Amino acid sequence: MVKIDPFEVDHWILTRSAGAKHSLAHSYCSALSINDLVSPQSDNTNEVENAWSSILSKPMEYGPMKGSSALRSRIADLYSSDAAAEPLSIENIVTTPGASLANFLVLFTLLGPGDHAIVQYPTYQQLYSLPTSIGAEVSLWKAHEEDGWRLDLDELKELIRPNTKLIVINNPVNPTGAALPRSTLEQIIQIARAHSITILSDEVYHPLYHSVSPPPPSILSVSGYDKLVATSSLSKAFSLAGIRVGWIASRDPAIIDLCVNSRSYALITLSQVDEHLAELALRPATVQRLIERNTELARRNVRVVQEFVDRHAANCRWVAPVGAPIGFVQFVRDGKPVDDVEFCTRLLEKRGVLLVPGSKCFGDGTDFRGYVRLGFGEETEHLEAALDEVHAFIEEEYDDVPVFSD
Ligand SMILES: Cc1ncc(COP(=O)(O)O)c(C=O)c1O
Repeated sequence: MVKIDPFEVDHWILTRSAGAKHSLAHSYCSALSINDLVSPQSDNTNEVENAWSSILSKPMEYGPMKGSSALRSRIADLYSSDAAAEPLSIENIVTTPGASLANFLVLFTLLGPGDHAIVQYPTYQQLYSLPTSIGAEVSLWKAHEEDGWRLDLDELKELIRPNTKLIVINNPVNPTGAALPRSTLEQIIQIARAHSITILSDEVYHPLYHSVSPPPPSILSVSGYDKLVATSSLSKAFSLAGIRVGWIASRDPAIIDLCVNSRSYALITLSQVDEHLAELALRPATVQRLIERNTELARRNVRVVQEFVDRHAANCRWVAPVGAPIGFVQFVRDGKPVDDVEFCTRLLEKRGVLLVPGSKCFGDGTDFRGYVRLGFGEETEHLEAALDEVHAFIEEEYDDVPVFSD
């Protein structure tokens, strides 16, 4: 049997959502429906209705092996907004059910026992636990809060070994909402190129940047090296997680071919219904509207959380996030980090608010003590109502939450 660690964040949310009146545990802006793809401004009702009726009459064959051409063309267009970069074509894209499977296929395909991977940290657990379960050696490339969650490029150079096959980054980052700017991406590429190492960039929150200008580009828009892979999906930046469509994008045909081969073992093809709906969602006018909606919501809501953090400055702090509707908040009492699992458990029990404990879901129990991931992608009034409950908890129950003293 394959040895694989429990997937903490999913397990936490799955086992606790039922008791939550207010969820701040999710990492995307509030979900949209298919009806929401109809634009109130441009009235594309016909377009949506036609797409829906063509699903109803479409013979349900397996569909194309790399994904539908129409959808792959829409995905390729997402990478073509950066005029400085060579446009991508459909040959550079493979569809997957979500970014989860995109990451799974890339990691499974490009790593084997005895290979070494360097993974940015903290990040989404899949990106380091899966390589470990494959038998790869994993080095965590650690960002520190005191440096504003910046990554140290000298440290990256020191982590490289003769068997390093992959550098894994996540931009913007889950759980901190930090972002790697273009200059950092350029330097990471320079280092990788010198050792012929492939880079996987999980860009599932790209291009949702609410507080940084200019926003960082996709890694695929930074030129000069082909051994780059980006993964993404409709789940986060587009608020359509229930359309289980994601993708792998790379300029390197060998990487695409290898992933297509692995994909055949895992799924043959994607749901034709999902691919059809995804193509509808990724039409240019709709993409622009969804990104504007989510950026505006995140921009408004990050200010609400900032006010909460300022009001409770004696008990919590964060490095204000710049991308993705998530932030990593540390709660302390008398200068000591609170037991974040207890904090989240009691907050849920007493006030019905679900948060994600950092030390359990993004660390090994010792890293990120006192931290919680706070998702602020809900509608603003829901976020405010949830933060009112957290405030009441701090007023009434906080002194009883245990702290870490060593
Ligand atoms: C960084 C990151 N990558 C990938 C995923 C998986 O997303 P999905 O499979 O819904 O596209 C998530 C989900 O939380 C994530 O945070």
